[in-house]
Amino acid sequence: MNAQSPAKPLSALKAGPLVGRVRVPGDKSISHRALIFGALATGTTRIKGLLEAEDVINTARAVAALGASAEKQGDLWVVKGRGVGGLRTPDGPLDFGNSGTGTRLMMGVVAGHPITVTMTGDASLSRRPMRRVLGPLVEMGLEIMEPGKETLPLTLRGTSELMPIVYRLPVPSAQVKSAVLIAGLHAAGKTTIIEREPTRDHTERMLRHFGATVTNETKGEETYITVDGDAELAGKHIIVPGDPSSAAFLVAAALIVPGSDITIEGVLVNPTRTGLYLTLQEMGGDLTFENAREEGGEPVADIRVRFSRLKGVHVPAERAPSMIDEYPVLAAISAFAEGQTRMDGLAELKVKESDRLQATAAGLIANGARADVDGDTLIVEGGGGLNGGGIVATHLDHRIAMAFLTASLASKTPIVVDDATMIATSFPEFRPIMETLGARYAEVAR
Ligand code: S3P
Repeated sequence: MNAQSPAKPLSALKAGPLVGRVRVPGDKSISHRALIFGALATGTTRIKGLLEAEDVINTARAVAALGASAEKQGDLWVVKGRGVGGLRTPDGPLDFGNSGTGTRLMMGVVAGHPITVTMTGDASLSRRPMRRVLGPLVEMGLEIMEPGKETLPLTLRGTSELMPIVYRLPVPSAQVKSAVLIAGLHAAGKTTIIEREPTRDHTERMLRHFGATVTNETKGEETYITVDGDAELAGKHIIVPGDPSSAAFLVAAALIVPGSDITIEGVLVNPTRTGLYLTLQEMGGDLTFENAREEGGEPVADIRVRFSRLKGVHVPAERAPSMIDEYPVLAAISAFAEGQTRMDGLAELKVKESDRLQATAAGLIANGARADVDGDTLIVEGGGGLNGGGIVATHLDHRIAMAFLTASLASKTPIVVDDATMIATSFPEFRPIMETLGARYAEVAR
């Protein structure tokens, strides 16, 4: 979303039962990777179900600006790649909008090419820490044109002589892991990431699919993930499953709106992404996984959800990487559960599209809930549901907007989110899909 778009406040009205069978758009993480690996492959990559949201479209534009082609043909996205190391200097800056994933993964790409690239983003992205990615990439040979600068806009110069490294992740981040592994494709030799807490593994799965050699070795509590350098990727067919982080809002809505019974077809259920679903089941949520199957190297299922009386739970810190984008919506519906929900280990929430720890707690408090932040822990006292009536500051964060529009469906009075425009960065069909199920929204004058 460009910085000039006027904010559009929106509220969701109290809903009757949500009912129906729907699909959600393609997974965002997998969509970014399909475009990027397609650009690094030789030949043609055909992608079915690519998420056509602003974040991913910005990545498609970036790979095209770097000399690959990425365009829609019928219902497929077709990428013509340039081979590992074959991309060229773009004519102007690459604008990644709101997307940390697009930016950080592409830093790994730029690192391996002898090109100079300027990367820009919106106000939210320009505040986000890039040191976590630049640190290891600089060790491998990437140059930052203004040394010491760690936020966008940034001008970077890569090299065709990247050094392989062994890098222990200081934060559990799939973006950092992926950026280093992508750079490692271009290095001479083996690049290894050491991971303590498992993070989403779409990069490893998809790189193998494209023909790279990626191995995993468990040593004690750590996993060593190694990619062979001087890699050659070959264009492939990719099927992008439904995004579990988008489906999360529908699931949450059905759990709190009395009488609801919905099914979401074709959702990615990779265990590195399903922490929310496990937590909701522990809370007493009636979720069933039907028709489990594999599509394009990823596990997929249809998820049936029925209204449930939820109870508060303790969500352990180790679970955070597998549900890192789902805490705002979990916290928002925890207000409808009986008792306390305690979510530990949320340090990474502070560096997302907004400081989601503060933004979530503030949104809950503004709508009558008791919520507290204690260090990296978020505590929500459930019991009474939400009174609503408050305005939620979304801070350019799509998930804060969707989380509170979801809670609004069961609040006593509607909740207003101050800006719904950012929803287009990840889930442009959020409102029409929710309306298919029976939800209603009202624009609010500014
Ligand atoms: C993503 C990884 C996560 C997640 C983001 C997508 C990815 O970020 O929050 O929405 O596609 O690799 P971190 O790796 O920074 O935790």
